[in-house]
Amino acid sequence: MTRYGPVGVAVVGCGTVSHEYLPTLTAAPDVRVVACADLDLDRAGAVAARYGVPHATDVSTAIQHPDVELVVNLTIPAAHDEVAGAVVDAGRHVYNEKPLSMDREAGARLLTAAKTAGVRVGGAPDTFLTAGMQAALGLLVEGAIGSPQSALLLMQSPGPESWHEAPEFLYQPGAGPLFDIGPYYFTALVSTFGPATRVAAVGRQAFPHRTIGAGPRAGTSFPVRVPTHVTALVEFAGGQVATLVFSFDSALVRSGFLEITGTEATMALPDPNAFHGQPRLRRATDEDWVPVPVPHRRSSRGMGVVEMAQALRLGRPHRASGEQALHVLDLMLSIADAVETGGFVPVRSTFTLADPLPAGWDPTVPTLVTGRSWQ
Ligand SMILES: NC(=O)c1ccc[n+]([C@@H]2O[C@H](COP(=O)([O-])OP(=O)(O)OC[C@H]3O[C@@H](n4cnc5c(N)ncnc54)[C@H](O)[C@@H]3O)[C@@H](O)[C@H]2O)c1
Repeated sequence: MTRYGPVGVAVVGCGTVSHEYLPTLTAAPDVRVVACADLDLDRAGAVAARYGVPHATDVSTAIQHPDVELVVNLTIPAAHDEVAGAVVDAGRHVYNEKPLSMDREAGARLLTAAKTAGVRVGGAPDTFLTAGMQAALGLLVEGAIGSPQSALLLMQSPGPESWHEAPEFLYQPGAGPLFDIGPYYFTALVSTFGPATRVAAVGRQAFPHRTIGAGPRAGTSFPVRVPTHVTALVEFAGGQVATLVFSFDSALVRSGFLEITGTEATMALPDPNAFHGQPRLRRATDEDWVPVPVPHRRSSRGMGVVEMAQALRLGRPHRASGEQALHVLDLMLSIADAVETGGFVPVRSTFTLADPLPAGWDPTVPTLVTGRSWQ
């Protein structure tokens, strides 16, 4: 059946991050949020009421609602595979929060199942679609730094246990600075250079135990089971290289540092883990950084869903793709493997690099009109 106008969306998982998605989705004329669902029906009801969503239901009713074409999966990571698999089985498109999946094989199975079913997979994060990041990517494509050669990336902090009341999970396999913060930085990196081909890394721990600093369990010590400092090298298919540090072992906080150096200049990208920020450019002749003009438009969590919905109607590829999200997962797992083995590890997955968004793109500006689509 050919459909026209706004794309019908269901949000599955009505926890913390749903309150960031729903303001974006309900402000976007090209999507219509039809249903909210959660294991906790009261929570789904409260979220639906707050954002004016007409239906609050269990997961399978939401997925199978006749008006729902695209399901936004905001469940906890351990439920991502099961929920996304059910969505694809029901013949609906799915957009997953990060990580795309718990492992490479399950992620690849999801993409294969979607292809067979003729539906699409999208994946967070969508921070690479902010106005600042896209302005920077547009300039890089136009040659503003000459030929891009290398990237330098730094995220260091003391870790979240001083303010987080239950930080244990952040120091267990599947988390740590690499997996917790990495998706934002790696998505920015691969949307600049394209797919990576191999990595090397070392990892270490400054402290075998950490102590909770806030809340009723303050003072409780717990074991650290992942590297809390990772230094990695990444090589890309285009020949560029990146040097990265992800650390929870530093009293000094320094984050959002991602610089791309080319043959003629260096571009400092905005913080890849934020929805605001201005890129800066520095040529050999510049005495200081020069801010890059950024168009004023809405940049908020969920815009990747809006862009995917527009792409569905218009029959073009969407930018926050499942292939890109799987590649980012593969890249992080490969770095973790390299920490274990001490050698270079090949990265075998790949994806197609999207063009930067058109300068005037804004998720609150309609691209699809009821009755027919244009462009
Ligand atoms: N919290 C944040 O600031 C943040 C930021 C970026 C990304 N994320 C990502 O968003 C996702 C959700 O995180 P959160 O912080 O909102 O978690 P949360 O625990 O606050 O909410 C998750 C919700 O999913 C529901 N749920 C769990 N399993 C389910 C299932 N099988 N079917 C239906 N509902 C189910 C839970 O009942 C809960 O309401 C995670 O993948 C996380 O990595 C969170």
